[in-house]
Amino acid sequence: MEGKPHAHKTAGERKASSRRVKRKAKLSKAAKESMGDDELWDHFYSQKGVRFYKDRHWLRRELMELMPAEVRRAPLTWCAPLGSDGCGTAVDVLPSAEEVRGFVVGLEAGCGCGSAAFPLLRANADIFLLATDFSGEAIRLLKSRDEYENQLSSSRRRCHAWVSDVAAPVADAGWLEVEHLAATLDGLHFLTLVFVLSALPRDRVRAAVKRAARLLRPGGLLFFRDYGDGDLAQRRLDDRGQTDGAGTYERGEGTLARYFSLSDVEALFPRDLFCKVEVKHVDRDITNRAKQITMNRRWVQAKYVRAGAPPLFPPCDAGADLLNETGAARRRASPAATTSAAGPTAPPPPPGDDDAPACADAVECGCFAW
Ligand SMILES: C[S@@+](CC[C@H](N)C(=O)[O-])C[C@H]1O[C@@H](n2cnc3c(N)ncnc32)[C@H](O)[C@@H]1O
Repeated sequence: MEGKPHAHKTAGERKASSRRVKRKAKLSKAAKESMGDDELWDHFYSQKGVRFYKDRHWLRRELMELMPAEVRRAPLTWCAPLGSDGCGTAVDVLPSAEEVRGFVVGLEAGCGCGSAAFPLLRANADIFLLATDFSGEAIRLLKSRDEYENQLSSSRRRCHAWVSDVAAPVADAGWLEVEHLAATLDGLHFLTLVFVLSALPRDRVRAAVKRAARLLRPGGLLFFRDYGDGDLAQRRLDDRGQTDGAGTYERGEGTLARYFSLSDVEALFPRDLFCKVEVKHVDRDITNRAKQITMNRRWVQAKYVRAGAPPLFPPCDAGADLLNETGAARRRASPAATTSAAGPTAPPPPPGDDDAPACADAVECGCFAW
């Protein structure tokens, strides 16, 4: 039997059919209710794929403490993806303390597909990163990236990713070996929480923060970045009533979101465990030229040092607003309501499945490119 002739679809037809596929995969209310949080994230990643969250290149600027001198001098400079020397013999298991000695060892908790992990690894060749997420699909996608395979097949591997729940009880099996490794190393040098605490149910956040405190060495650096109160995405969810009224929001696909004020952030990290270095808002107007809209995004960012020793990494200030130099994003003058580059008569963003109708990537993940 002859196969069907290959259909040549127009861009519009392709878009419509991909929308049909997505619609088919939309979860019913009953399905969402029957699924665990990890399954909802699995579903999210199976729909959105590895590229939904853009790589967080801004870490080079915002986390200068971890950057080598050449990156500090020129944080906008592109960093090459991880390559391979083809001499790797390592199997993809948790490294021994011996293997990572001499590295700056960190953990990216709630790492998704590696959007924060790989930019850090590219920027500093001395980092060994442990990366974990409780979505098996996210970890599968992370491991499918060429860079993961490349570092694994190199004589000096740089990363190990595994599935775990960051808010699991202390003795959870998914953490025992990592806790042991951290203890053998006298604690990890740094730990990053990038858009993950907002994804946890409110009553599980404390457990995640306590785990961070257990794993970090005294003087180690904790970097936190998440959604800020007043963010455009929060206002959209408010408008649609997708909130419990107590500050927890549910996105269309069932995953949770919270939007932190600066005092919320301060309350997250107890003073007996963490010394504050910085807690701030990061405001950006992000313009989608194609759709002629400007989106007011707000994130919160914090750095803390694990109490008990002076900072391992001397505090660094990102200094001048380098983003302005690129023209890629502008610092927002005031947290005003959504404005449109085309003026008040510009059409509103089209409705979408989610809280990300205007520019899925930017609204959802808070990334901005440079
Ligand atoms: C908004 S994504 C951020 C991912 C990544 N940090 C990044 O920068 O792109 C939130 C992530 O948190 C993960 N997550 C949610 N709850 C978690 C938990 N209890 N333990 C580990 N990961 C969790 C989700 O699976 C998801 O990958």
